[in-house]
Amino acid sequence: MTEQAPKKVDMEKIVSLCRRRGFIFPSSEIYGGLSSCWDYGPLGVELKRNIKDAWWRAVVQERDDMVGLDTSIMMHPQTWVASGHLEGFVDPLVECKSCHLRWRSDDLAGDSCPSCRGELTEPRLFNLMFKTFMGPIEESASVVYLRPETAQGMFVNFQNVVNTTRKRLPFGIAQIGKAFRNEITTGNFVFRSREFEQMEIEFFVKPGTDGEWFNYWIEERLNWYVKLGIKKENLQLRQHTKQELAHYARDCYDIDYLFPMGWAELEGIANRGDFDLVQHTKYSGKSLDYFDEETKEHFIPYIIEPSAGVDLSALAFLCDAYDEEPAEDEIRVLLHLHPDLAPIKVAVLPLSRREKLVAAAKKIYADLRQHWMVSYDDAQSIGRRYRRQDEIGTPFCVTIDFQSLEDEQATIRERDSMNQIRVPIAELKGTLQAKLEGEPLFVLPPGGQIWKEEKK
Ligand code: GAP
Repeated sequence: MTEQAPKKVDMEKIVSLCRRRGFIFPSSEIYGGLSSCWDYGPLGVELKRNIKDAWWRAVVQERDDMVGLDTSIMMHPQTWVASGHLEGFVDPLVECKSCHLRWRSDDLAGDSCPSCRGELTEPRLFNLMFKTFMGPIEESASVVYLRPETAQGMFVNFQNVVNTTRKRLPFGIAQIGKAFRNEITTGNFVFRSREFEQMEIEFFVKPGTDGEWFNYWIEERLNWYVKLGIKKENLQLRQHTKQELAHYARDCYDIDYLFPMGWAELEGIANRGDFDLVQHTKYSGKSLDYFDEETKEHFIPYIIEPSAGVDLSALAFLCDAYDEEPAEDEIRVLLHLHPDLAPIKVAVLPLSRREKLVAAAKKIYADLRQHWMVSYDDAQSIGRRYRRQDEIGTPFCVTIDFQSLEDEQATIRERDSMNQIRVPIAELKGTLQAKLEGEPLFVLPPGGQIWKEEKK
């Protein structure tokens, strides 16, 4: 994390919203929680799925040069010898001789305990991989690790992918999955978790073309966040210094986001050179080289790796979308989430609980939920219900009133502007679809009209 930034949004407000509305809960909360592990609630799971779907669409579905994989969390232990994690995935740890709290020595400004000022032990190296045993016998021969990154599953399957898909260079593999790190320094909500999800790309290229692909992916990944609504001024690129570079990296840029606690890494894009395929060839004894049919050459491809965190993306999208604005005599809290990311796309709200209105609204609800995550709410005043949807980022509310029973029309209210249009119920699905894809609200379907224009 780099220098402190002016606070735009308080982390406490984000944590409180996530807790209150069911985005994110502390893990095993009824037992007092488990440090740096988090549970995604009914809205959080939708947000996370939407982030992963948007990523998969952009990097696999819409491209000819990418395929997906889903590899196992536990891998052959030699993987971690070859990757360098067994020896090198370590943090220097010191312990306070008085209060026994442990700290990463490279995080400390002074040489005493930040908590009680006690004397600290000499640093010792602490491996961040979680260890467990495979099978019934707890002995060193059966030790396996929970993967600290999804990347290795893609490297060891390089030849399988080439053989089964006949992909030619340059091409990439994408994977989304859980990773585990026994982080010493945790905190800032989901920012440093011990169990988290990654969205990783391993893009294989001919050596010599790696520089241009490295720049290409930096640009591509930065644009992905902007396209999904993150403000440009809250993103920055930061090149790793020589001292910072991971043991496998020739070059690396972080995409940093301006979190409430300051600029911090959201995604890393590394040029890994041929490190991984050379190492796995060496330790497995299996050739992982590539035959270029055009030039008749054998070589080990270089790898460009854009590696993003799902949880960090969720946190960044929430922080960026969070807003408060005065509305009548209260504060309207809203999430300006991109429609692709919003957990609920449409809320159907009958004006009252009168039987005929409820029946008409439930029919619309049943139709619309065939297409999107839709919620139905008939509790409390319409104003309260709008606020509840604003707070979770629902882009559109559909209101059914008494006139709807006569004229077969419903009102669509837009979250950000609070403007409203009235459209034939028969046109609802098509209209909502167009609006969710970005059509301006006041572009009307046949028979539609502007209903209410909020003056701001
Ligand atoms: N394969 C390369 C790799 O794993 P990394 O920079 O260590 O690189 C990539 O991790 C991304 O994974 C980070 O940018 C971050 O988004 C996410 N990540 C890493 N450690 C995390 C943690 N403890 N909690 C949440 N996300 C984490």
